[in-house]
Amino acid sequence: MAGDHNPVKPWVFIVMGSDSDAEVMSQAAAALDELKVPYEMHVASAHRTPERTKTLIEQSDREGAAVFIAGAGVAAHLPGVVASFTTKPVIGVPLASGALQGFDALLAIVQMPPGIPVATVAIGGARNAGILAAEIMAGADGELAKRLKDHRASMATTVVEKSKKVERSTR
Ligand code: RP5
Repeated sequence: MAGDHNPVKPWVFIVMGSDSDAEVMSQAAAALDELKVPYEMHVASAHRTPERTKTLIEQSDREGAAVFIAGAGVAAHLPGVVASFTTKPVIGVPLASGALQGFDALLAIVQMPPGIPVATVAIGGARNAGILAAEIMAGADGELAKRLKDHRASMATTVVEKSKKVERSTR
């Protein structure tokens, strides 16, 4: 019918520099699964497959990806390169690999020069990257905002339950 349209639900694009990053980066996907946020996940390297990286990011940006999560270890320029191909928010996940175990990746990702920002989570902080991506998308999705509030409430309940197991007093 004229005027009808079937808008595609925006999604999160998750990319990592190597399949060796997949175990940690899957924690971002798991958080998005819990929050019922759609995503796609790929391996693309800033230095080994620069053209593939550019094509994937530009295509997904065009088609409706709303937030990008990029995880990489060692020199870790992938998140900055992803951010160069989109004006959507990019979250970088520094990954522990190589001699410096993620400290190199942390500095590479967090120290983006002015103009092309990358929001950086902790070393190995893929779960927080997923939650942060959902929080960004919740600005335009009231039901997702409610699921995020429920997620917080369930964490609070868990803390109280854990406390009950260790609580003691000798006063
Ligand atoms: C980075 O180099 C990747 O993100 C990965 O963390 C690291 C090692 O990659 P592999 O040698 O395991 O492919 O580009």
